[in-house]
Amino acid sequence: MMSMFATWLYVSSSLLEQNADTEIANIRSTAEARNPELGLTGVLLFSGHHFAQFLEGAETNLHIIKASICSDDRHTSLVTLQTEPVKKRRYGRWALAYSGWATHIDGVLADALRTNDRRKLLRYMDEFVAGRR
Ligand SMILES: Cc1cc2nc3c(=O)[nH]c(=O)nc-3n(C[C@H](O)[C@H](O)[C@H](O)COP(=O)(O)O)c2cc1C
Repeated sequence: MMSMFATWLYVSSSLLEQNADTEIANIRSTAEARNPELGLTGVLLFSGHHFAQFLEGAETNLHIIKASICSDDRHTSLVTLQTEPVKKRRYGRWALAYSGWATHIDGVLADALRTNDRRKLLRYMDEFVAGRR
């Protein structure tokens, strides 16, 4: 049987204010330790107002991180845009590729929230990650 990877794509609203840089550094160092332990890979975008994150890996492990992220009070109003399993990882080289402050993409994230359309968001993530190779 072919093994599949569970995926999770969501957009949420940031509750971070002046402390954003410090808190995101904390999130990244947690993720850089914990995601590899759990065999998860993915991407995190931050626009100043919103987060968008894609994570992929074994279903049980993804569920563990999901529970943590969903109850994290650094963001709110989380909307899931994708949970379909895939045959191949999309961001296999990255424990968590991070965009840095990307205020210019807030429109893409807000649109994805409004329309539930994930295509443009995934395309942006792909382009961002491709640019880091
Ligand atoms: C937008 C956002 C993305 C996050 N991404 C991850 C992640 O990819 N991996 C991770 O281990 N923690 C991530 N975190 C942190 C978790 O929510 C949580 O604080 C951390 O995993 C510790 O888990 P615990 O609070 O259940 O002990 C993220 C938090 C936020 C707000």
